[in-house]
Amino acid sequence: MLTRIVVLISGGGTNLQAIIDGCKNQSIPGEVVGVISNQSKAFGLERAQTHGISNFYFGKKNFPDKIARNTELIACIQSLKPDLIVLAGYLAILEPSFIQAFEHKIINIHPSLIPKYAGKGYYGMKVHKAVIENKEVYSGATVHFVDELIDTGQIIIQESVKLQPDETPESLQKRVLKIEHDILVRSINKYLEGEI
Ligand code: GRF
Repeated sequence: MLTRIVVLISGGGTNLQAIIDGCKNQSIPGEVVGVISNQSKAFGLERAQTHGISNFYFGKKNFPDKIARNTELIACIQSLKPDLIVLAGYLAILEPSFIQAFEHKIINIHPSLIPKYAGKGYYGMKVHKAVIENKEVYSGATVHFVDELIDTGQIIIQESVKLQPDETPESLQKRVLKIEHDILVRSINKYLEGEI
């Protein structure tokens, strides 16, 4: 029985693609059974469509009321019967009731060495810009469990990358993304093998 994985996205979905590819080449003993975005135009939804994966939009346009959106989102995910939920660039804040509904079943990928450059306001390019502005020697990525705060859950895997002399936010993002894809697949396997 393949492990059922639901992925939440907001953007391009390269981390989602890494999970889909991992399931297809059996490096992940699982299947992506649903993709959900809070952005109706997220390219990650097209990636799901291409692979025949159920995909849903839950955002301000179709659920303007935050409470109803949260309730519908929980019900939709429960109907997919997930063993694991992965936040892969999901930029909406999750309600405590969502976290409680899927206790210890939600992991997140973050493009920094948490606790550095994490928490409110640190996401995407903002992270890489701050790392370079502060002349950090290392950056990297972290996969962690999701709890009711932002980027504070138990760390699963963290991997670093040394900044190059002429590093730009774009070049750093590109190198960190490669690490993200790798540690995300490894973290999912750690979870599925019951190691964490
Ligand atoms: C990644 O950098 C991830 O760490 C961050 O959002 C970005 C998502 O990228 N949370 P993608 O949509 O998976 O390409």
